[in-house]
Parts: sequence; C-alpha cells; structure tokens
Amino acid sequence: MNSKKPIYVTQPYMPPLEEFIPYLEQIWDNKWLTNNGHYHRQLEKELCEYLAVPYVSLFSNGTLALMVALQALRIAGEVITTPYSFVATTHSLHWNNIHPVFVDIDPVTFNIDPQKIEAAITPRATAIVPVHIYGNPCDVDKIQRIADTYSLKVIYDAAHAFGVRRNGKSVLNYGDLSVLSFHATKIFNTFEGGAIVCHDEEMKRRIDFLKNFGIADEVTVVVPGINAKMN
Ligand SMILES: Cc1ncc(COP(=O)(O)O)c(C=O)c1O
Repeated sequence: MNSKKPIYVTQPYMPPLEEFIPYLEQIWDNKWLTNNGHYHRQLEKELCEYLAVPYVSLFSNGTLALMVALQALRIAGEVITTPYSFVATTHSLHWNNIHPVFVDIDPVTFNIDPQKIEAAITPRATAIVPVHIYGNPCDVDKIQRIADTYSLKVIYDAAHAFGVRRNGKSVLNYGDLSVLSFHATKIFNTFEGGAIVCHDEEMKRRIDFLKNFGIADEVTVVVPGINAKMN
C-alpha cells in the first residue's frame, strides 16, 4: 500500500494537553519558573521513588549532566569508554579536557566489552564511562571489579536506561554515578532534560552546587559551577 503518511522512527510521548494546562496555570500564578521550584522538587522526589534510587538531581539536558558528573568526581587524564554511543558521551570528556580511550564492544550486547578494559588502562586512567546502550545493562559486576582493582571511578551513561532493572535492582544504582537523558526522543521526556543519580547526600549537594554556578547561599560561591539547571 502506498501511504503518504510518514512513518516516524520515534515520536515523543506526551500527555493530553488538558492535563498539562492546570500545572502551567499554577506556575503562571506563582511565577516560580526555575531555581528548584515546587514542581522541580516534586519531580526529583517522585523520580527517586519510581526509579528506586536514593538521590536524583535534575538537569537541563543529559550532556550537561555528563559534564557535571565528571566534574563532581574530579575526573581528569584518561577515561575508558565505548565508541558505540551517541556523540555526547565522548564530547563530555573532551569538554572536560579528558582523553577518551576507546574499548571495543561485545558483539552480542553492543556494550563495552569488560574483557578488553584492562588492556586499555594506563597510569593516567581515572575512570570508566560505560553506556547501557539501548537500555541493555552493561556487565556491571565485572566493570566494578576492574574499577576496584585499579581504583577507577565508574560513571554510567544511562541515557537510554530509564526504569531498567537487573536482578530486581535498578541499574542506576551501580557505579559511582549514573546519568539519564530526558530528551524528547527518550522513553521519559521533559522536552529537554536529564539527571544524575548518586548514592549519598554529600555528593547530591556537590552536584547541585555545580549545576547552579557553584552557589551555596546568597553570599557564598563554593565551586566554579555552570548553569545546567532544569527549569
Ligand atoms: C547515550 C547517550 N548519551 C548522552 C545523550 C545526551 O543526552 P541529551 O540529548 O539529553 O543531552 C544521549 C542523547 O540523546 C544519548 O543517547
């Protein structure tokens, strides 16, 4: 059949507009548009519950979340990563002046092949940035064993892994940090958006400073931050 209707590879999931408008009306009334407003706090809280993770920090997009995750853990030198990803994974390294060292993927899972990681580790390596490609979990146990052996941090690019569980546990609970994307093409979208999942309150505070110009309070800037806040 010859149809003129385009077939989209993907289309954003959107709620009925009439369900969305009352939320906008409240925002129009209180005029709190950004900087940790009521709905921002509510979304962080509800995502923690839905994703079964302890701490979520919302971001304006997943790329800035990746860049801040690397800053939060003070990653430098070389980082082991996968070439099979969206460009933002590697670009976030370049924007932090970090040299990416590519390790080939497993031909079955398309995720970084843990058997090949050790051969790529040099004295300059400080972290591994694997990607749960298409939402298929990486071999998180093997990756963690290697990271522990060589004292490397692990930041998962979990842009595709919203709501993914492994043995009943959220895949976002592995590694030091996980980064999500809420871009329009993703399973869960905020038009543009992203998040970092972390495991302790101190790290959540550091991430929240970093994404808001390093501002701690009205008179204190604690770290050279950036503006990566979700509105
Ligand atoms: C694997 C991967 N990492 C990072 C990103 C960057 O996310 P964003 O588009 O929200 O900046 C994307 C997405 O689009 C992605 O697919």
